[in-house]
Amino acid sequence: MADISIDPIVQRPRRLRRTPAIRRMVAETRLDPADLVLPMFAVEGLTEPREIATMPGVWQHTKESLQKAVHDAADAGVGAVMLFGTPLERDPIGSQAWNPHGILANAVRWAVEAEPELPVIADVCLDEFTDHGHCGVLAPDGTVDNDATLPLYAKMSVVLADAGAAMLGPSGMMDGQIAVIRKALDDAGHTDTVLMAYSAKYASGFFGPFREAVDSQLKGDRRAYQQDPANAIESLREIELDLEQGADFVMVKPAMAYLDVLAAARAISNVPVAAYVVSGEYSMIEFAARAGALDRKRCIMEALTSAKRAGASTIVTYWATEVATWLNEVRS
Ligand code: PBG
Repeated sequence: MADISIDPIVQRPRRLRRTPAIRRMVAETRLDPADLVLPMFAVEGLTEPREIATMPGVWQHTKESLQKAVHDAADAGVGAVMLFGTPLERDPIGSQAWNPHGILANAVRWAVEAEPELPVIADVCLDEFTDHGHCGVLAPDGTVDNDATLPLYAKMSVVLADAGAAMLGPSGMMDGQIAVIRKALDDAGHTDTVLMAYSAKYASGFFGPFREAVDSQLKGDRRAYQQDPANAIESLREIELDLEQGADFVMVKPAMAYLDVLAAARAISNVPVAAYVVSGEYSMIEFAARAGALDRKRCIMEALTSAKRAGASTIVTYWATEVATWLNEVRS
């Protein structure tokens, strides 16, 4: 071969990757414990905490175990906790959802009692409370009745705000839900209750393990109200509508399979953008790590960092407390 002469390479991006200290200095994205929100499951009538088989490391809580986990989250510096409740009794309209002494309102009180300064977010949706497992009430033809569901969300929201929830996460994907909930809260004097709207929520297979977490009664799927994974532009419409209706946060869910949607959400929103790293995303990494296929810590950090890089300022994740602890170790 003849001589190959290469011009001197002036541009060497590798210079900035050479040492851990340089990489740290030039990192474009940093996770902070305050970015992280811990979702938690409270189960009515439970006497001992129970680990969720499809989500190893995540527990269904009693009052006592919930309060301990809330303390641990606050000590680690997580931004907030998000509560889901599973009732003992279910019915077609989900009436335990607005029982002021039902499991979700009680769990809000337990969390606030444990850590009064920590923002407590309550999920607003009927799926844990209905005996058919859908997010709203059913019309005679078996479809989910959007407009009949809205006043139930309104009642539920006021009960949860009364119980002390600083924020509510309407996750049912009913049209008009943010406007109806905002008005009900304001009329009840809860003008400061923050609405974290699940704006772009997809009908996702990655919610699979959540069904065990809340003992879901659902048969079938939610494709007639949650979004089609094929669509991204539709998310922009959902976000615009929620912002018009008074959303204080918008959320994209799931996260890892929807980073394009997250980036687009960031670009069009003038409020904080949250990403929910959902149950199936959690379990994929946990089970793959247990099988020896992945480096657990590294992949968890990569997953959460990618959500932040794509535009999320808040990340809802079952790893919140553990990751916050790791972040604190790095700093000290
Ligand atoms: C509905 C709700 C769901 C999740 C959060 N809120 C289930 C669903 O829409 O089917 C899923 C969260 C997860 O998978 O981690 N209340």
